[in-house]
Amino acid sequence: MKILNFGSLNIDKVYKVPHFVRPGETISSRSYESFPGGKGLNQSIAVSRAGAAVFHAGTIGKDGLFLKEILERSGADTRYLRECGEVTGHALIQVSEEGENCIILFNGSNYENDRGFMDEVLKDFSEGDILLLQNEISNLDYLLQRGKEKGMRIMLNPSPMDGHLKEMDLSGVTWLMLNETEGNEITGEKEASRIAETLLARYPHMNIILTLGKEGALFRSGEKEFRQPCFPARTVDTTAAGDTFTGYFIAALSFGKTQEEAMRLAACAAAVTVSREGAAVSIPVMADVEASIK
Ligand code: RIB
Repeated sequence: MKILNFGSLNIDKVYKVPHFVRPGETISSRSYESFPGGKGLNQSIAVSRAGAAVFHAGTIGKDGLFLKEILERSGADTRYLRECGEVTGHALIQVSEEGENCIILFNGSNYENDRGFMDEVLKDFSEGDILLLQNEISNLDYLLQRGKEKGMRIMLNPSPMDGHLKEMDLSGVTWLMLNETEGNEITGEKEASRIAETLLARYPHMNIILTLGKEGALFRSGEKEFRQPCFPARTVDTTAAGDTFTGYFIAALSFGKTQEEAMRLAACAAAVTVSREGAAVSIPVMADVEASIK
């Protein structure tokens, strides 16, 4: 069983601010730093640092070569990473004093992933392999369709949510990992259990992981429902917490752990991430997560 992440790679430009900028307002930031990021890259790094093998496919420009390097240093296989993009995607991230963030994305080379390239990569993967996806690259609907046709098990994080995603056929998705706002946009429901029920009515074979902020996360499938509380953490920066959760969850399942064990490990890894600054650089290795669980 192989894990393929076809996903975004971004240069994160992170500004610490006293509060998120309001309409019409200009504020000075307290600091500025540039980090490797992108939901795809963060998730691949989380899978790797959890100790599982992952192939990362995507497109960067010449300005993004350091993103390839950090993936490789973390142990991800980058043979499907193209360096032919115009300008690498980037994210403008405000981080508030409470550690919350808000993000503006520039798609850049993440939107230069074409169907021919996808077919070329997918021919090396087959039934039962895991396809990890987010909504930050072009032709996501094509990957969902081709992954389903091949019998791959798809984990989708629908962030950032947009109108296009709401129209997509999610029937091939094995695990949908989303937050309440995204759940509300897809189903029209507000309450966590109603969001999960509505999704299950539409997609009976789906496993739903609904993250609930400080309330932890809800797991729901046709057979099971349980909650995973958050681990306590001193929040410095929440960026990449969801990506860490996703990567650790998939890695844990690939090691043969149960869904309950995978959720617990993922929640603990995410708690370590929020206690550190940055996106990819804040993702812990398994030894740190195990020490933290103890
Ligand atoms: O999930 C966090 C990520 O979202 C950041 O690294 C940023 O690049 C955006 O893609």
